[in-house]
Amino acid sequence: MYKPDKIWDRFAKRYAKSPVSNEVAYQKKLEITRTYFTPESEVLELGCGTGTTAVSHAPFVKHILAIDVSSKMLEFAENKAKAADITNVTFACANIEDIFDSEASYDVIMCHSILHLLEDKEAVIAKVYELLKPGGVFVSSTVCVGSNNPFLRALLTVGCRIGLLPLVRLFSVEDLAKSITDAGFSIDSQWLPEKSDAVFIVAVK
Ligand SMILES: C[S@@+](CC[C@H](N)C(=O)[O-])C[C@H]1O[C@@H](n2cnc3c(N)ncnc32)[C@H](O)[C@@H]1O
Repeated sequence: MYKPDKIWDRFAKRYAKSPVSNEVAYQKKLEITRTYFTPESEVLELGCGTGTTAVSHAPFVKHILAIDVSSKMLEFAENKAKAADITNVTFACANIEDIFDSEASYDVIMCHSILHLLEDKEAVIAKVYELLKPGGVFVSSTVCVGSNNPFLRALLTVGCRIGLLPLVRLFSVEDLAKSITDAGFSIDSQWLPEKSDAVFIVAVK
């Protein structure tokens, strides 16, 4: 059985050291996201990794609950928040696919570089919809490489089976947008900085 905590714990140190792949696009995504925040915003981040995004958004919102399956990633995140004197982010270790709470209590839910790493992204998007207040905003940034590369697909499947790689799902931008609208969201903005970048989608409940 695939155990994301084990593999991501192993990647944590290297991930923490690696720079953001497109810093200009990343900063623009942060800026766009902030146009949806208010100082009263209750925010949930799924798959927060080493906490860079949560820590940088924290001064603009009331509270962020940032969850990740890897306790090692969260150690880096906790230290980052402490170093920046951020006190309104709570980090929690959990598997996104096991979230059962379904009270609509968030204004914004963010998924950065995580939807393609899930067994069932549709189930998680549906859960995000439930967890958002009416008018709430779903922000996602997701690598979409399409699904018609059999060699890459085979490589990823074998790599995951032998425990070398995390689970990675291949789908197109169109597939992702359809999953989001099928869940009931309206897409407010969609931006693909460069062909190989993660597509940024903001959708409203
Ligand atoms: C590619 S990293 C992205 C981290 C961060 N969002 C960012 O943009 O830098 C993916 C993160 O998702 C976490 N993750 C993977 N599968 C998960 C799951 N099922 N539940 C919770 N977190 C998960 C990993 O531990 C890792 O920290």
